Amino acid sequence: MSTRRAAITSLGRSVPERVVTNADLEKIVNTSDEWIRTRTGIQRRHYAAPGTPTSVLATAAAREALDRRGVNPLEVDLIIVATVTPDMTFPATACIVQDKLGATKAWGFDISAACSGFLYALTMGASFVASGKHEKVLVIGADVMTSILNFEDRSTCVLFGDGAGAVLLEPREDGTGLIDFNHESDGSGACYLNMPGGGSARPTTHETVDQKLHYVQQQGQHVFKFAVRKFAETSQGLLAKNGVSTDEVDLFVAHQANLRIIDAAKERLGLPEEKVVKNIQDYGNTTAGTIPLALGTALDQKRLKKDDLVLLASVGAGFTVGTALLRWAY
Ligand SMILES: CC(C)(COP(=O)(O)OP(=O)(O)OC[C@H]1O[C@@H](n2cnc3c(N)ncnc32)[C@H](O)[C@@H]1OP(=O)(O)O)[C@@H](O)C(=O)NCCC(=O)NCCS
Repeated sequence: MSTRRAAITSLGRSVPERVVTNADLEKIVNTSDEWIRTRTGIQRRHYAAPGTPTSVLATAAAREALDRRGVNPLEVDLIIVATVTPDMTFPATACIVQDKLGATKAWGFDISAACSGFLYALTMGASFVASGKHEKVLVIGADVMTSILNFEDRSTCVLFGDGAGAVLLEPREDGTGLIDFNHESDGSGACYLNMPGGGSARPTTHETVDQKLHYVQQQGQHVFKFAVRKFAETSQGLLAKNGVSTDEVDLFVAHQANLRIIDAAKERLGLPEEKVVKNIQDYGNTTAGTIPLALGTALDQKRLKKDDLVLLASVGAGFTVGTALLRWAY
């Protein structure tokens, strides 16, 4: 095979040390371990120390990805950071990561697509590699969700954690790499999951802070229903477009927002349990960090080997939808 594709050739992760269990959250909000486990599947999550910039986690994950492959930061052409918790509104966190890494020959930018951010960034980065424009692209999904959580709102604060994952994309001509992707946006869903304050629509004032508009706000059931429908619909669409049957998929890595959403997608796609990656119990929803962290879990569990067919899927605020089909390269 001679088609040039962008392949994930290395992966790195960075997760804060501090683990917060459901029992810990019982002391902060009116919730219970039983409610969180049965409604979401989450048992614990990691929290960064207050004031930790997202670039710190993003840089650590990127450095690990480069070190694992023995690549010098000076060889990196492009850095894309997917995040909804940038260090600051501008400049882009990718620029801060570029500086921290010493990747002085790379350019970079951020992508805002919430929980689909990593997949949007992956397919964007892969396009630069597949086209022949770049040889080495770092794609990072990183979020410090605790910086935008309202710890008086039990319906959102129990769901999220902090973390980052990074992948290195390089060209391959052996059939491995990104085969195809499908993205959708549905802006009519913007009202169901957002952070309303601090942007141009509601610049930060004492009033917006008093109203807690600088925190995540979500109507969970709307997001839940949309996610269940879209995971199956877009995954099936991408497989059909590429003439691939569900049986041929070796691993399904879905965004980890709710165990019930992942199980519903599994059922609708007709996938057996052993082909589905689940790590939500340990991390919660880390937004852009989730998919690379889940790929990391699959590697830890030795469930990924060269030439495996991997289906990635995500749904996030926007709404945004991402699916990607790839052959694992190592
Ligand atoms: C958030 C989510 C877990 C809530 O589950 P749900 O089954 O829809 O629960 P509801 O919102 O209907 O709430 C049910 C009850 O539990 C209560 N509840 C909400 N959070 C709670 C918590 N942490 N602890 C205890 N009770 C809680 C609600 O107040 C409500 O009580 P009421 O019936 O007395 O009003 C679920 O909707 C979800 O996962 N949505 C998608 C989230 C998501 O994917 N977000 C990220 C984008 S990818």
